[in-house]
Amino acid sequence: MGVWKYKELLPLGNDIKPITMGEGGTPLIKLSRVMEALNINGIEAYVKFEGANPTGSFKDRGMTVGVTIAKYIGVKGVIVASTGNTAASAAAYAARAGIKCIVVLPKGGVAKGKIAQALLHGAEVMELDGTFDDALEEVFMNVTSSNSRDLYPLNSYNPWRLEGQKTIAFEVVDELGIVPDAVIVPVGNAGNISAIWKGFKELYRYGLIRELPRMIGIQAEGAAPLASAWSRGLDTPQFIEKPMTIASAIRIGRPVNWMKAVRAVRESKGTFISVTDEEILESIKILARFEGIGVEPASATTLAGLIKAYNNGIIERNSTVVLIATGHALKDPDTIIRYSL
Ligand code: F0G
Repeated sequence: MGVWKYKELLPLGNDIKPITMGEGGTPLIKLSRVMEALNINGIEAYVKFEGANPTGSFKDRGMTVGVTIAKYIGVKGVIVASTGNTAASAAAYAARAGIKCIVVLPKGGVAKGKIAQALLHGAEVMELDGTFDDALEEVFMNVTSSNSRDLYPLNSYNPWRLEGQKTIAFEVVDELGIVPDAVIVPVGNAGNISAIWKGFKELYRYGLIRELPRMIGIQAEGAAPLASAWSRGLDTPQFIEKPMTIASAIRIGRPVNWMKAVRAVRESKGTFISVTDEEILESIKILARFEGIGVEPASATTLAGLIKAYNNGIIERNSTVVLIATGHALKDPDTIIRYSL
């Protein structure tokens, strides 16, 4: 039943008719051979495989709620800036709802599978010379201009997206039967880590759990405004004009949800960590070869982050850790082939 199994924990009225494809309910896969190969001892690690969602990423959890609201309030269409997955998901859910979808993409900065999905589901694709951050700026300008009131923005500053994505926390607790010690999440625009933390906090507030996990956010080294500020003890990130990483999904220099993400990490006594492109590529390969789990580069940051956190003593022995593998390997076949993974 996935996301809508938790309807009572979503702030929606009963008259709402979900636009759904059974998203959520993704497998939680225990890592065994990987841990042995990496010589990581005394840690139980699981991958929450979000690649198993209808369009192949966790974005479907947010889009099912976001597009449901868009349809409910009666807009003509939705608009998103995207590094790819948001576009693919918005396009599919908008198609299902019978409304228009416009996606604004950084030209040359989106993996092939994702563009193909957006086109396949009939989105109007606008490519912009610039970064994802510039594309998001374009969406802001568009929705605030008077002639486009009929377009509903569904980037992750839209709170409904985060309401859907918080169900990752609910499922982890349901499936694991306990609260993990740490949850490791790739961070781009910083919505998902904020959403997952919101989910855990709600369970805590409702008295359904007694502990909270540490939230560990991973960024790619060339696109790590939060991790680099954190490591220098700074309160606010220094945004990056030209973010660079092989993990195109999280090639973001000005994360719109940075404040919420910093709060999640701080409140949970977690941390931000950055990992290199080499570590990301190696982690894709390790997950694929030792466990049969195929993920896209952004998702592999979680394993690279786990290795670093373990080596630095951030994650202690006897911990249970969940890695949020946000997107499917098929999203980005070019990287697999180019680097002979
Ligand atoms: N992993 C994948 C596969 C993603 O596509 C994204 C974000 C993230 C992690 C990071 O999540 O932004 O909530 O911190 N992709 C967005 C997009 C930006 O447009 O598809 P976040």
